[in-house]
Amino acid sequence: MIRLAFRVRPADAETVLAELTELAPTGVEERDLGETIEYAVYGAEGELPSLPAVRALIGDALVDVVSEEVADDWADRWRQFHEPILIKDRLYVRPPWCPPYAETPAGDIATNDDVVASDVLELVVDPGQAFGTGAHATTRLCLELLVELADEAEAPADSRGPVLDLGSGSGVLAVAAAQLGWGPVHGVDHEEASVAATIENARVNGVAVTADRFDLLRQGASGMGALDDGRPPLVLANLLRPLLLRVAADGFTGTPPHALIGSGLLVHELDGVAAAFARLGLVEADRRTLGDWGGLLLRRA
Ligand SMILES: C[S@@+](CC[C@H](N)C(=O)[O-])C[C@H]1O[C@@H](n2cnc3c(N)ncnc32)[C@H](O)[C@@H]1O
Repeated sequence: MIRLAFRVRPADAETVLAELTELAPTGVEERDLGETIEYAVYGAEGELPSLPAVRALIGDALVDVVSEEVADDWADRWRQFHEPILIKDRLYVRPPWCPPYAETPAGDIATNDDVVASDVLELVVDPGQAFGTGAHATTRLCLELLVELADEAEAPADSRGPVLDLGSGSGVLAVAAAQLGWGPVHGVDHEEASVAATIENARVNGVAVTADRFDLLRQGASGMGALDDGRPPLVLANLLRPLLLRVAADGFTGTPPHALIGSGLLVHELDGVAAAFARLGLVEADRRTLGDWGGLLLRRA
């Protein structure tokens, strides 16, 4: 088994991750080395992306490439990067191979001794070949904003209204929204593996989420079959900046959203994306950062 690592400048990290995710859909390991961010993929020789292909995609951003032989335990090793997280003491996002919150030993990094275990919602997510263990900073930011929105919502938990998850990946955000009382919930993603993972993770968690394949870059959000039941949806969009700008430029069909939670953005990109959505009448109500990443809550003015 070979570990092939690409070190890039932090400023290029977002774009590089997007490109590498295309080349290595089974997943990319991320490490912050300080001056560089390292993205690593694992595979047998011949299965890994070729260096010319990588250079063609991210050549300008590359600072270093490191290739090393590693023990042949890919499946187990990969699991180390999928760790449970507790969001706002309310939502416990965990892989299927980790125990439920109530069975997790006190003092564990993902637990909080002050939390009543029976109040915690369990979200079991197996990303398969899709993005979205829940642990990535951008997903965490979206989950935090979503939990807060649920806490402040006046509507009863079973009638919070429709949600559209753009770039649903594993479906982690869509499933969380359904667990927190929104519905109907629909996810779109241009990857077939993401659509399958979204549907499967909804089934495993016992919530109703639909999903289909849709390319936001080629077709624009306005081309999407509207999730229109007459009520304005909440839009979740953990996408990269170019896609968010495309969505903002294109607008939505059907009843316009009342709010949008957006991430996948570096901190310095937040202003530009907020300004683009303000033109659609969705104005900044909150912003969060975690490390280099940022998230926005936009509301209809
Ligand atoms: C950063 S991941 C977010 C996944 C998940 N929603 C989460 O928060 O963890 C972005 C997702 O957008 C999807 N995506 C990228 N480009 C897309 C496009 N042109 N159209 C639709 N989905 C796209 C990717 O496949 C990926 O699943």
